Amino acid sequence: MSIFYEKEQKVFHLQTKSTSYIMRIVKNNYLSHVYWGKKIHTPEMENAQLNWLIGFSATTDNEDKTYSLDFVCQEYPTGCGTDFRIPAVSAVYGDGSRNVQLLYQEHHITAGKPGLPGLPAVYVEREDEADTLVIRLSDPLKKLSVDLMYTAYRERDVITRSVRVINEGREDVVLEKVLSASVDFETADFDFITLPGAWGRERHIERTTLRSGVQSIESRRGASSHQNNPFMALAGKDATETSGDVYAFHFVYSGNFTAGVEVDQLFKARAFIGLNEYDFSWTLEPGQDFQSPEAVLVYSDGGFGKMSRILHDLYRRRLVRGRYRDEVRPILANNWEATYFDFDEEKILALAKEAADLGIELFVLDDGWFGRRDNDNCSLGDWYVYDEKLPGGIAGLASRIKEYGMKFGLWFEPEMVSPDSDLYRSHPDWCIHVPGRMRTECRNQLILDLSRQEVRDHIVAAVSHVLDTAEIGYVKWDMNRHMTELGSAGLDSRRQKEMPHRYMLGLYEVLEKIVSSHPDVLFESCSGGGGRFDPGMLYYMPQTWTSDDTDAVERLSIQYGTSLAYPVSTMGSHVSAVPNHQAGRVTSLKMRGDVAMSGNFGYELDLMRLTVEEKEMVRGQIRQYKDLRTFVPSADMYRLLSPFDGNHTAWMFVSKDGNDIFAAYFEILCEVNPGIRRMKFTALDPDAVYEVVGEGCCYRGDELMEIGLVVDCFGDFQSRTWRLKKN
Ligand code: DGJ
Repeated sequence: MSIFYEKEQKVFHLQTKSTSYIMRIVKNNYLSHVYWGKKIHTPEMENAQLNWLIGFSATTDNEDKTYSLDFVCQEYPTGCGTDFRIPAVSAVYGDGSRNVQLLYQEHHITAGKPGLPGLPAVYVEREDEADTLVIRLSDPLKKLSVDLMYTAYRERDVITRSVRVINEGREDVVLEKVLSASVDFETADFDFITLPGAWGRERHIERTTLRSGVQSIESRRGASSHQNNPFMALAGKDATETSGDVYAFHFVYSGNFTAGVEVDQLFKARAFIGLNEYDFSWTLEPGQDFQSPEAVLVYSDGGFGKMSRILHDLYRRRLVRGRYRDEVRPILANNWEATYFDFDEEKILALAKEAADLGIELFVLDDGWFGRRDNDNCSLGDWYVYDEKLPGGIAGLASRIKEYGMKFGLWFEPEMVSPDSDLYRSHPDWCIHVPGRMRTECRNQLILDLSRQEVRDHIVAAVSHVLDTAEIGYVKWDMNRHMTELGSAGLDSRRQKEMPHRYMLGLYEVLEKIVSSHPDVLFESCSGGGGRFDPGMLYYMPQTWTSDDTDAVERLSIQYGTSLAYPVSTMGSHVSAVPNHQAGRVTSLKMRGDVAMSGNFGYELDLMRLTVEEKEMVRGQIRQYKDLRTFVPSADMYRLLSPFDGNHTAWMFVSKDGNDIFAAYFEILCEVNPGIRRMKFTALDPDAVYEVVGEGCCYRGDELMEIGLVVDCFGDFQSRTWRLKKN
């Protein structure tokens, strides 16, 4: 068991492989937070927990002037009465009152980890992998109960949290806020790490010092977004890639979220993560309940590198599902940057033939194959073939591509509708809208209202029909705008603010149905590139198109930042043309290949324009990737040089058995006479001998780590890779 309850001290102690998370029931049955960090014995509570009287903090117990919730570290704060800091939950009762008081009622501990109904969540395959604690807190006056759910993994340093709110009273309760986790720390000696960005510049690492007040990130866009990722970490000020304390919080959700920290008057920190209260409310009728999405919590005493490796292992083994969790991912060619909308069957087949000759295994037909779609003005929703472009239909095209020895993949954007489409003309109220208001278009499209069952059923049927009538081995599921004019024709007036979350639940229902009924299809999610790169989407689709920005230099930052929380096995990563279509930059084909190889590899350019020498190089890259994909996707990643610190980036991968190593080094701009530069490897066996494959030399692990190998670069946009094998 990884969870213990010590009756005498009323202490809950969750123990993962090397961490402890401790809570205690304190005076008047409030649940307090005691500790989260390195694994320890259950401490003496007199020492571990303090009560202090501080001015202008009302006391929670009129008999005890040292007892104030404004001071006590809490587990799930409500803001009730004496705590003036950020609450995790707020509600309005039938009489208009808003105080929520949550007191301990009962708890139970079971082996395993239950799924969350209708929501993505990390999972277990065997009951002995983890234990789950449910602590019931209740408001004695209003009969509102909250089940705090914790899972502690026995062999991973991972704790998950979620919350279920149950209305056990006789009146409706309107939930205005339900966070998934809140953790109080006694000090605020941390830096705040987040992954903000923009379209084409996703997940750049930002590190700022905590200051008094609230610092937070959020999305109000109806998607987890390019602009912020539902991830944050608190790191000791001295934390680096290889050392120091890091506390990571990751929200398994794809819609509006909030994540942040409040530093209070005594320099304590309250970290929180969950659904954004902006544009959220949920009416609970008597007897109904509300389940929050899940938050993943990871503590690392080995800096950011260890934190990432814990998250990577968790996500690739216990978040991602289906056949492609374990199988190698095919090398693909995508026609988007080769043709955009300007293609016909002949052109696609010529591209596909070229791809097959080069050794590519999957050909993906992107946007433009349906309705009358010659540009982005029309046809989303009309998921039937554009027969003038593709007279043989999708089935015909798929079978020709199969004859070339490749699988066939297809692009969809099922959540959207173009005003110029048959679907919109038949169902103008199926989109998110507010009656009487302008329906703002973005990329000339509106969003289908997935909070409505008939809309969801239509999407499942339309997509399934295409998948079931042609041999399709891969789907790219795109989503290219954010929500405006929030409203649903399917919800009554008091439930309009439920729409954004109901949309996400609807999306998850649609995905579950389509993905589970097509177990052999590899699904890749996309939202204008990396606008919905989050653990929620990864539960349904094992990989995400990392960014529309395919420039190799830009990709160093994007992929490095993304790797803070996500394994490379989840990142789509393609070689594209030069000058690059997003950045205008001309980088070497070698560097483009080397960057893309640290991800799910593919090509997204007009292969027919490659020179004979370039084609030879592409063949070599494909051979190289076929070797790398046998271990890199499941390997431990070590980030060695950060693109955010300067001109060089380096990272390496060590297979789980330690026998196979891949390392990559990138120099962006040439430096003349830069002095001696070496690639110093890490995480090798110091006594073992490693062969540098293809170079005919062998070195001991300690030499590779302490002295390293010389790196020689000439010219801009250079890269160097090493493939080591332990002898
Ligand atoms: C946005 C995606 O990110 C691109 O890769 C491409 O699929 C376009 N949409 C197609 O419209």
